[in-house]
Amino acid sequence: MRTIDFALASALALAFAAGLPAAALAQDAAPPASEVDAVIEAAFPGLDADWAARLRPDATMEQCNQFANLPPDDVFEEIRTRAAGTIVYPDDGVLMGSWENGEKLAQSGYGMRFSDYPARRETGGNCYACHQLTPQEVSYGTLGPSLAGYGEMLGFSDEAVKATYEKIYDPHAALPCSMMPRFGTNGVLTIDQIKDIVALLMDPASPVNQ
Ligand code: HEC
Repeated sequence: MRTIDFALASALALAFAAGLPAAALAQDAAPPASEVDAVIEAAFPGLDADWAARLRPDATMEQCNQFANLPPDDVFEEIRTRAAGTIVYPDDGVLMGSWENGEKLAQSGYGMRFSDYPARRETGGNCYACHQLTPQEVSYGTLGPSLAGYGEMLGFSDEAVKATYEKIYDPHAALPCSMMPRFGTNGVLTIDQIKDIVALLMDPASPVNQ
């Protein structure tokens, strides 16, 4: 991020020096998606096929890229419907597991990195990288909103439990072009793991709601 800011600042400084309108330069600075894809591919030469596949945007990412995460209404609805169609619910209809395990998963950023193959433990949800959850935890990211008191705020309703399960399974089903990972749809977490994380947010006994 710092490098990008620095690059942008340098470009703007140059533009001023050359007497160019800086705003126009900032606008024109966004390269076409094909160019971005090519740069990313070139940055990871000689990857195995499964890794190489992870660099290629799927239909949803392509649409979000195309519209800089602000798709027009028809595309917004297309992404939303596609995401909702990927959600698989537990056979028994029970959407909450153990908040204790959910807290461990929310803390863990293990899994799917170059150094995690072959996997030596279960993949985590890494929720704290972007959200505050239990108020006791002092280290968390702020890209996503604070989820402290989340279940209580939503009145612990059945609808809110279902919406939370769906949000974690595929965030685009609620908000197309969300920055949040698609934990269920992309096979990052299992249904049981998602249930445990739903419990962390929605169980009245969870520290998130104390
Ligand atoms: C890369 C950052 C990132 C990670 C990791 C992440 N989220 Fe999010 N999350 C976001 C952002 C950004 C939003 C706000 C936009 C949206 O609603 O999609 C959000 C929204 C949410 C919401 C909806 C909040 C509301 O306003 O009602 C819930 C619930 C949620 N995240 C739960 C989780 C859980 C649980 C995890 C871990 C399994 C997680 N998130 C991991 C970025 C992230």
